[in-house]
Amino acid sequence: MSESAETQAFPSLGQAGVDPYSIPLEKIDVSDSEIFETDTLWGFFERLRKEDPVHYCAESEFGAYWSVTRFEDIVHVEKNPEIFSSARSIVVGDPDPDFPLEAGFITMDGPRHIAHRKTVQPVVAPRNLKLLEPLIRERVCEILDGLPVGETFDWVDRVSIELTTGMLATLFDFPYEDRRKLTFWSDMATASPVMVGAIGITEEQRRAALMECLEAFQGLWAERDGKAPADRLDLVTALANGADTKGLAPMEYLGTLVLLIVGGNDTTRNSISGGVLALNENPKEYQKLRDDPALIPNMVSEMIRWQTPLAHMRRTATRDTELAGKQIKKGDKVVMWYVSGNRDESMIDRANEFLIDRKDARQHLSFGWGVHFCMGSRLAEMQLRILWEEIGVRFREVEVVGEPVRVRSNFVKGFTELPVRVHPL
Ligand code: HEM
Repeated sequence: MSESAETQAFPSLGQAGVDPYSIPLEKIDVSDSEIFETDTLWGFFERLRKEDPVHYCAESEFGAYWSVTRFEDIVHVEKNPEIFSSARSIVVGDPDPDFPLEAGFITMDGPRHIAHRKTVQPVVAPRNLKLLEPLIRERVCEILDGLPVGETFDWVDRVSIELTTGMLATLFDFPYEDRRKLTFWSDMATASPVMVGAIGITEEQRRAALMECLEAFQGLWAERDGKAPADRLDLVTALANGADTKGLAPMEYLGTLVLLIVGGNDTTRNSISGGVLALNENPKEYQKLRDDPALIPNMVSEMIRWQTPLAHMRRTATRDTELAGKQIKKGDKVVMWYVSGNRDESMIDRANEFLIDRKDARQHLSFGWGVHFCMGSRLAEMQLRILWEEIGVRFREVEVVGEPVRVRSNFVKGFTELPVRVHPL
């Protein structure tokens, strides 16, 4: 361990040279965003799973919190929402009291959560997805056909963002030409106070961006209020006319929009980028895909497990309880590290290998579990499937030609840049 890490109150675990096995257990703070940015998280989680699977961190940037790192303990937390509540916050940090943005129904419990979820669920239900599929395929083809063959370009920007933002615009029936605004608002919604400084904007500018988002969507709400949905239902029409959501206060509406924008955006985006990287790091798997494109649906699940685009969700204990022998007190923060549960060898065979023909590939935690299980999982899987089907009939290889740049966040696990070249068949 470096000397500075030893002497600091909150050692920055992402610093090069820190050995996860040589620091005292109680000093491990896996909420440190640097370990995600530098991709040095794995050893810390491996040690916690082995030595202290439900781990208490007394001091961190976000205060004290418990880490739940094993698959089965995470499922236990998810299955007991009356003990482990989603209200207050679903990330390790608490919301800013000056800007209390409730993140929609993902931060609700009980009947209110169910009612709000039911209102928008039809938008991503099988019937609507069938109607969406040809449109998504058309946009995938357009994007892939426009790629600069023979040149190095950024896959994140040209494909991952472009594709997910287009899909989101479709879900909201938001003006397609303004779709990049959705990316910007999503980035603003997930920017932590630390990131706000790092990307050169102020907290005031961040809030102003979110209020601009609210204003734009209030316009769409007014247009669609009282209107019967067209053949394909969109999210704004569903919310404006739903019995349980038509009376939403502006900040509640903003919270729901943020949930739907972030939910559909960063996650799918980072599965797309992470999948390309995983195939490059595992050339044998890439060859399996070329030899047998029928593996695509299974591969998509494996890519989502491997990437784990949301590293964690947090709950708050509603009463004193016990978890894997640890005494959790009412009010304690309990963080479920999906990124760790997805590498738990006691539940997933060869969990630290990327295998596109893995048996039971859908058995992962990237979409959560239980009552809050991801509402858009089928849509995300469909989008990734179509993308890889269309890549396969155009390109022999999407080759990563430079270092990926990772997001500095303990929540959104993904990439800001991935330099690639595409090689035609
Ligand atoms: C690979 C892509 C995706 C991943 C990895 C992902 C991951 C997650 C996770 C981990 C949760 C919380 C689950 C829990 O607490 O148990 C969640 C909830 C949710 N996701 Fe996704 N998501 C993805 C795509 C999408 C898409 C495309 C949408 C678009 C509508 C979406 C909408 C939502 C919503 C609305 C919730 C809240 C559900 C609730 O609280 O009942 N997600 N997602």
